[in-house]
Amino acid sequence: MAEAAAPLKATRQGSVEPFTLVEGPEAWYAKDYRGRSDWVTVLSPTHIAELDAAVQGILRSGIDLRSQLHKVTREQFPLPTLGPVLDGVREEVRAGRGFALIRNFPVERYTRAEAIVGYWGLGLYWGKAVSNNKAGHMIGHIKDIGHDPNNPLTRLYATNAAQPYHNDSADIVSLLCLKAARSGGLSSFASSITVHNEILKRRPDLARVFAGDWYFDRKGEVPPGKKPFFAIPVFNYHEGYLSVNYSDNYYLLSQRHAEVPRLTKAHYEAMELFNQLARSDELRQDHMLQPGEIELLSNHTQLHTRAAFEDYDDVDQRRHLLRLWLAPAVDRPLPESYKEIYGGSVEVGNRGGIHVEGTEEHISLEAE
Ligand SMILES: [Fe+2]
Repeated sequence: MAEAAAPLKATRQGSVEPFTLVEGPEAWYAKDYRGRSDWVTVLSPTHIAELDAAVQGILRSGIDLRSQLHKVTREQFPLPTLGPVLDGVREEVRAGRGFALIRNFPVERYTRAEAIVGYWGLGLYWGKAVSNNKAGHMIGHIKDIGHDPNNPLTRLYATNAAQPYHNDSADIVSLLCLKAARSGGLSSFASSITVHNEILKRRPDLARVFAGDWYFDRKGEVPPGKKPFFAIPVFNYHEGYLSVNYSDNYYLLSQRHAEVPRLTKAHYEAMELFNQLARSDELRQDHMLQPGEIELLSNHTQLHTRAAFEDYDDVDQRRHLLRLWLAPAVDRPLPESYKEIYGGSVEVGNRGGIHVEGTEEHISLEAE
């Protein structure tokens, strides 16, 4: 392998050249954050008072939360001192290290309606929210509602099964923990940019495989006129940016369609190396989400996973997270191939999410 012997060049997001090591805060290792808490923002009493006032303002207006909350704008949800903090968190996630945690969202004191309104309001400072599924849920409910994880059409967030390392279908994903599981459910995340760099160092031949087409199964969430699968590279070098898009269970599932080219030995080897790197002690950070914590991740530079869990018998005590998929108003350019997975658009500020025939955008207070 002549390529492996040549010294690898390093470039930064904004000026990334294909098949070079990407340098920057998003290309982190676990050791970089050991003992550090600068990625955690703790809401102060002043922040929470502002949040309370904005939530009550929306509730007093009497709007129907199911059909109208997702039309509320940032101007209708004023957060005088918290707002700039939320803007800073978004920038760190979008263009910095790629991950952040917020603590102290008052889930214990809030009713479900207050929690939903409050979380929607925070999201207004991070970007335009997009639909989480074919039902048009603008806030996703991550809860085991008894779906069979072995059914190919099941989205794993509606089960208690482990999820492999992947990223979601929007620029930013955020999760708010309402309830933790009785046991299990550990969240972990890793930098997909570091995974890219390590693959380049170890197996430059496989980096080329990742830059080729990978077939992705839509799990039955098929937009009008589209096939039930599409192709998108894992390593996307575009206008000076490296964006990584990876979900191995969707690649494996695509093999159920006769029209999809068969995965080769190189593809399987590539996935094995990718997963081994993502879950390694050197790359991975673990975090058990606690009620009131909000996690934010860039889907272009970070991967996430969660372990299987066991719930309490009482339905109301079961693990329950809320999810936002967000498109910030300012963000990196993405190649046309992302249109397939980004709701038909790669326009900055207006991309991502799942849109199929008859999708009606709404917000549900319960997992359904
Ligand atoms: Fe996910």
